Amino acid sequence: MDNSDPRRLSVALVDVAAGREADFLTISTSFEAILIRKEYGRMEVVRDEALPSRYYAIRYWMDARAAERCHADPEVQALTARLFQIARVMHIVNGVRRQDATQLLLDDRRAHVQSDRRSGFDRRVKDVGRAEGDRRKGDRRLGPRRVRDRAGDVDLIAAARRAREHADAAFSHFKVGAALEAVDGTVITGCNIENATYGLTICAERVAMFKALSEGHRQFARIAIVADTADPTPPCGACRQILWEFGGDLEVILANLRRETGRHQLKDLLPLPFDARLLS
Ligand code: THU
Repeated sequence: MDNSDPRRLSVALVDVAAGREADFLTISTSFEAILIRKEYGRMEVVRDEALPSRYYAIRYWMDARAAERCHADPEVQALTARLFQIARVMHIVNGVRRQDATQLLLDDRRAHVQSDRRSGFDRRVKDVGRAEGDRRKGDRRLGPRRVRDRAGDVDLIAAARRAREHADAAFSHFKVGAALEAVDGTVITGCNIENATYGLTICAERVAMFKALSEGHRQFARIAIVADTADPTPPCGACRQILWEFGGDLEVILANLRRETGRHQLKDLLPLPFDARLLS
């Protein structure tokens, strides 16, 4: 049966904040109406019998392209932003993931990492270059393996938006969220945390990176950074340095609560970097 194609199905687990169930159902109804009106697909919301504040949002996409168009739709993104204010959303099945390009790309990444097990640390202290047969001419930078290809389908911006909700920005009131993707597909999030000294504030990006390192991740592909600003909020200088030293030439995706505001390679944001190569 056509509909049994797993690439057409997305399931999200939605934990709705106490007392916000009615808002959640209003958002779901609007979302479902958009899905039908724009022919993206259809949706079903199932309530968890054991846990009344938990719902499963099941989306049946017309096809993978419809799912992609839906995720890029500003009307949908505005609704999603509202949803993130009242619920924690965890994607269990990702119907946008396209078997052809994306999945193969991730598999390819894993294969590369497997065949070249030098850690990020080794790469930082010594320019070990690339695996045999994978050498580039010219500008060879130090840092963990850089992955240029785009996974494209992991909802990294949504994860950063959720992380932003945990920001502790009592002094600046400027909340930032970050979501860092390791090459194995794991997403590690961070938010800015301020304190009374001001100076000990730590940015969302560094929280994400240090969390990731502390959990054993050493190879990274992309980071999404979200702030509630119309203009892009790029990482500060300190974060660029840390991201560079531990993440290499990451793809940096900037977004606000409604839309993506830019994409950059870290080497363009931090030209002429200082790193451990220069210590020897
Ligand atoms: N901040 C971040 O977390 N990331 C950025 O990229 C820019 C700035 C935080 C630090 C501080 O808590 C607040 O935003 C205002 O500077």
